[in-house]
Amino acid sequence: MFYIIGGKLWLSFVFVRKYDLTAEFDHQAVARALDLATLSPNSSNMQLWQFHRVINNDKRQQLAELCMGQNAAKTANELVAFVITSDKWQQRTRINAAHIRETFKGREDKASKRALKYYEKLIPFIYRNDRFGILGLGRQLICAFLGRKKTMVREVSKADLRVCLHKSSSLAAMTFMIAMRAEGYDTCPMEGFDSKRAKVLLGLKSSDEITMIISCGKRTDAGIYGERQRVNKEEIIITHA
Ligand SMILES: Cc1cc2nc3c(=O)[nH]c(=O)nc-3n(C[C@H](O)[C@H](O)[C@H](O)COP(=O)(O)O)c2cc1C
Repeated sequence: MFYIIGGKLWLSFVFVRKYDLTAEFDHQAVARALDLATLSPNSSNMQLWQFHRVINNDKRQQLAELCMGQNAAKTANELVAFVITSDKWQQRTRINAAHIRETFKGREDKASKRALKYYEKLIPFIYRNDRFGILGLGRQLICAFLGRKKTMVREVSKADLRVCLHKSSSLAAMTFMIAMRAEGYDTCPMEGFDSKRAKVLLGLKSSDEITMIISCGKRTDAGIYGERQRVNKEEIIITHA
């Protein structure tokens, strides 16, 4: 386990497109890195994510093919799919509300009431959706109306919720990749895959979505495609002093 990210670790962090299949690989390192990933920040602590580990040789090769046959997938020792599970929102709301009741036991103050209201009223308002996104459209109209006179969150549509869940899942993916580096292994995040077939292979529900698939292994020199290219910092780091 690691808790402080040293400069050296970060500098050695680079995406690898070809792994050394002859090198030893400790699958327990993936388990430890995923343990850390579960501690990642996530929206309203709903934890609407799942991490699907594909270790089995046949299944891994099949999934690698679905990653458009990329070398980063084909030469990996393990593939991990980061998945969002929007249909579990009611269960997660109940868990969070119960946790708050336990934390604020015996207290009837404003803070405890507000925290409970958040999970009992606001979260169901934002997370409940129908197939066609009509409820989301209604929420957008309500928020636009209320937002004329006061500050208001605007991202309340069904599509906005998907973005919200993918953000949290991506943060978990980043934690995982840094943790893997700290374990001495390399990773490559991939969004180039056939999501429809990959969902079937992983036995996912139709409402589940794969944020990305991360390949894991030991780097080879040939797997690092060259100098890293970044645009000018002045263009992307804007200081409002
Ligand atoms: C969401 C996401 C999806 C990506 N998908 C792929 C992919 O399918 N195949 C691949 O080789 N690299 C993929 N990458 C890696 C990017 O190409 C890489 O981060 C970028 O080129 C910068 O590379 P560097 O950090 O090694 O300089 C992905 C990265 C992210 C964040």
